Amino acid sequence: MFARPFLEEWRHAQVRADQLQARLQVLESQQYQAEVILASMVEGVCALDKEGYVVWLNPAAQRVLGLPAHQVFGKRFLDLFRQPDLDTLITRVLALGEPESRELRLFGPPERVLSLQVAPCEGGTTGAALVLVAQDVTETRRLEGLRREFVANVSHELKTPLTSIRGLVETLLGGALEDPAHNRRFVGLIEEDTVRLTRLIDDLLDLSRIESKALVLQPQAITLRPLLEQLVASFQPQLQAGQVSLSLVAPDDLPLVSGDVERLRQIFINLLDNAIKFNKVGGRVDVTARSEGPWVRVAVQDTGSGIPAPDLPRIFERFYRVDKARARALGGTGLGLAIVKHLVELHQGTVSVESCPDQGSTFTVSLPRAEQRPPAAPGRPPPPRR
Ligand SMILES: Nc1ncnc2c1ncn2[C@@H]1O[C@H](COP(=O)(O)OP(=O)(O)O)[C@@H](O)[C@H]1O
Ligand SMILES: [Mg+2]
Repeated sequence: MFARPFLEEWRHAQVRADQLQARLQVLESQQYQAEVILASMVEGVCALDKEGYVVWLNPAAQRVLGLPAHQVFGKRFLDLFRQPDLDTLITRVLALGEPESRELRLFGPPERVLSLQVAPCEGGTTGAALVLVAQDVTETRRLEGLRREFVANVSHELKTPLTSIRGLVETLLGGALEDPAHNRRFVGLIEEDTVRLTRLIDDLLDLSRIESKALVLQPQAITLRPLLEQLVASFQPQLQAGQVSLSLVAPDDLPLVSGDVERLRQIFINLLDNAIKFNKVGGRVDVTARSEGPWVRVAVQDTGSGIPAPDLPRIFERFYRVDKARARALGGTGLGLAIVKHLVELHQGTVSVESCPDQGSTFTVSLPRAEQRPPAAPGRPPPPRR
C-alpha cells in the first residue's frame, strides 16, 4: 500500500502531465496554423533582426522580391536592394517602434514596384525585431498610370475643339456676326468642331462599352464580299475628293465568316477611312479578301504616307498618332485603330500591320470562318503569307 499523500501527489502529477500535453498540442496546432497561413499568403513576409538581417521568410517572399530563398535568408535586407530610402525606413522603424510603409522601385529588368510595410515585433528567442510585408504592385501602378494618361489625353482632345469654338463665338459676338463676309464661314467652323466633338464622344463611348465588356456581339454567318462592296461604294465621295482609286478583289467562293455585321462594318470603315485619308493624290487602295485554313483574311493596302517602324508597335494604342497635327487636321480622333483591334479580338480574330514609309501600309484582319471556328481558346493565326 502506498501512503495517501504519495498517491495524491502522483495523481496531481498525472493531471499536470495531461494538461501540459494538451497545452503542447494546442501550441503545435497554433504553430501549424500560423505556418499554413504564412505559407499561403500572396504577400512576401520577412522577419529581420535588429541589425536588419533576414531571419525568416515565407515562400511568397522569394517571388515578390525576385530572389531565391538562399539569397535572402541570412542576408542584410539593405544589401539585397541597396536603396537609401530603405535604410531610412528600417532605421526609423527600429528607432521609433512605429510601423511605416513605403514603395520601392526596382530598376530591373524588369522594372518593378514593391509596396513595403515594416512593423516592429517582439520576436523573443527567434531574434526577430522587424516584420516586413512586401507586395508586388507593379501592375496596379502601371494601370493607374495608363488611366491618368488616358484622362489627360481625353481632356486635351476635348479642350482643343472647345477652345476653338469659344474663340469663334467670341469673334462672332465681337462684331463678326454682322460681317457678311465672314459670319457664315465662322459658323461653318463651329459646326466642324462640334462634329469632331461628337465623333470623339461616340468613339469614347464605344471604347468604354467594349472595355467594360458591355458590348455583346450578335454573331451570324456573314458573306463578306457584299458587305465590302457596300462599304467601298459609300466611300466614293472621299475617294473622289482625295483622287484615290480603289479596287476590291474577293473570290466568289470566299467562305462565310462568323461575326457581327455592324461591328465588322465599323472595323472596315475605320481601315478604309485611314487608307484614303493618309493616301496621296493619285494613290491607290487595294482591298483583297482570301481564305487561308480556318481564317478569312482581308487586307487593306494603300499607297500612302506609311508608318515609320518605331511607331508601328504603338499604332493600336488609344490616341497614338504618327503626326498628331496632321491626323487632327484630317478629322481623326486617334481612337479608330484601338477600336478596330478590340472589335477584331472580340471576334476571336487578329489584326496586323506592315508598312513602309512613303510607300504605304497594309492592315490585315483575320477572322474565323463561320463553319469551322477555331477551338475555344484559339491560337494566334500565323502571319499572313504575302
Ligand atoms: N493607312 C495608314 N497610313 C498611314 N498612317 C496610318 C494609317 N492608318 C493609321 N495610321 C496612323 O495611325 C494613327 C492612328 O490611327 P487611328 O486610330 O485610325 O486614328 P485617326 O484616324 O483618328 O487619326 C493615325 O493618326 C496615323 O498616324
Ligand atoms: Mg482612323
